[in-house]
Amino acid sequence: MSKKKIVIEPDPILRKKSQSFEKVDKEVQRLMDDMLETMYSAPGIGLAAVQVGILKRAIVIDISKEDEEKKPIFLINPEIIYKSEKTSVYEEGCLSLPGHFAEIERPTECHIRYIDYFGKTKELKADGLLSTCLQHEVDHLNGVLFVDYLSKLKKDMIIKKLVKQKKELDKIVL
Ligand code: NI
Repeated sequence: MSKKKIVIEPDPILRKKSQSFEKVDKEVQRLMDDMLETMYSAPGIGLAAVQVGILKRAIVIDISKEDEEKKPIFLINPEIIYKSEKTSVYEEGCLSLPGHFAEIERPTECHIRYIDYFGKTKELKADGLLSTCLQHEVDHLNGVLFVDYLSKLKKDMIIKKLVKQKKELDKIVL
């Protein structure tokens, strides 16, 4: 496994729609392994392939707590097949928007159809944090970020700060 560089907003790739996989092979599994390692070391609870610069429909998620056994979920070509009318609010962050958080309202429950690490089609019924996390990651595959749910004013403020943060980072790298 190898750690990959996480793409930080603003970056046009984060706004692109990711493409579906045709099959699950060793290469896809290696990508998922790398994504998981990148996510754990960040650390974060969810990561989409586009966040490591690959426009493919793959997601890794692990919402287990630090002191618990790790429970990674690999989702290929995920599709939300049900969203509840009831909604919940969670404070969301994103590895591509480091240091920024906002309360976002989403359907409390969702059902997802996806292909797992071994190429098997599965369905997952989620609520609570897992449901929010799944919806956040599927959004990434469609070029949507959590700040898109905020008012233009709040969103612009966060993006402006990220531009500044990126400039500082570039200076350090150079
Ligand atoms: Ni994110």
